Amino acid sequence: MHDRGIVTSVKSVKSVITGTGIAVGQNVVKNDALAKIMDTSDEWIRTRSGVEQRHYVNPGTGSTDLGRIAAEGALAKAGRTKEELDAVIFATMTPDHFFPGNGPVLQAKMGLRESMPTFDIRQQCSGFLYGLDLADSLIRSGKYQRLLLVGADVHTPFMPWHNNWDATIGRSDREATPEEYAENTKIRDRTVLFGDGAGAVVVEASDDDARGFLAAKLYTNGSNIEALYVPGVGFRRRPFVDRAQIDASEYIPVMEGREVFKQAVSKMPESVREVCASAGVEPSQIDLLLIHQANLRIVEGVAKQLGLPAEKVPHNIERYGNTTAGTLPILFHECLADGRIKPGMLVCFTALGSGLHWGAALYRT
Ligand code: ACO
Repeated sequence: MHDRGIVTSVKSVKSVITGTGIAVGQNVVKNDALAKIMDTSDEWIRTRSGVEQRHYVNPGTGSTDLGRIAAEGALAKAGRTKEELDAVIFATMTPDHFFPGNGPVLQAKMGLRESMPTFDIRQQCSGFLYGLDLADSLIRSGKYQRLLLVGADVHTPFMPWHNNWDATIGRSDREATPEEYAENTKIRDRTVLFGDGAGAVVVEASDDDARGFLAAKLYTNGSNIEALYVPGVGFRRRPFVDRAQIDASEYIPVMEGREVFKQAVSKMPESVREVCASAGVEPSQIDLLLIHQANLRIVEGVAKQLGLPAEKVPHNIERYGNTTAGTLPILFHECLADGRIKPGMLVCFTALGSGLHWGAALYRT
């Protein structure tokens, strides 16, 4: 540091996660419940994706509601009050409103300081990973001391089961009509994968050199957004939403499942190798690899490519499905809670999702 021509050495600031919290939808929905309203089966969903159940929120519960519960849990674990926060980063692809983003909504719901800056970021399944790098950068720049990072998504509003919601959550025995069954089946490749969930972390400045974020590598390739995107309800259309788009189901995400799968099992291992190289460690030195939970076969494929044994690669997709921006913080929280993450471990986060956005981050606990 230069101060009137005198060079003094300063200890580098690290960012550390001091608290975590999670929240999931109120209703547990097993595969068999979905098999009642569309042409699918528990066997297909388990063997092709690893999902056994997912959680759905009640109508009226938004991503800020789940985010709020997760955030309050994270603050309590960190032993911090909301007054001690400097800023909020909210990652979601399913905000409560088209605008403003979830940041100000969460601020008001939690009663955070009125002038507190909030950042809203997207990046879908890579949203939490991008948020971690942003939080780390903002802290290491000296701008903020303590941030709340929330990743939350509610996917149920993407699923147009107008008359079948109660059947999925066990509140009704009414059978889907043949027309409803056929409509639900059209989007079965996507709907069975997703659940509603949120995770939050408090990230703080620390001068403990032994802990904290070591490196992150983030990437985007927008050359084929059609691999996973929402075709309608956007501002190149006039008006941005109309009856024709709704009738054509253009508000429902479309996905080239095999293409995204192929990208996931090649790009995530590549970014893990890159981030390890930039931190001067080998992938074999990773104690726990936390992979975005989109498909158990992707998780296993990434682990295999990196030569990491199953015990270093935890998964919870069987219980939650893909919760998009909620996935990585939920997995991190659970691994801390059950003791799989211990002090001094090298933890690697990696994700890939719509955009495509992907990357990896290394963290010493
Ligand atoms: N139940 C029963 N059958 C189904 C279902 C279902 N839910 N979904 C698809 N099928 C059928 C298909 O119609 C097809 O039938 P056909 O052979 O008669 O044509 C057959 O199963 C095989 O379909 P595939 O698409 O080849 O199945 P695949 O093994 O590739 O699995 C899946 C599909 C699960 C979607 C997989 O490709 C995948 O996980 N892709 C990656 C998803 C991902 O990572 N997304 C990114 C994150 S999401 C984000 O960023 C928001």
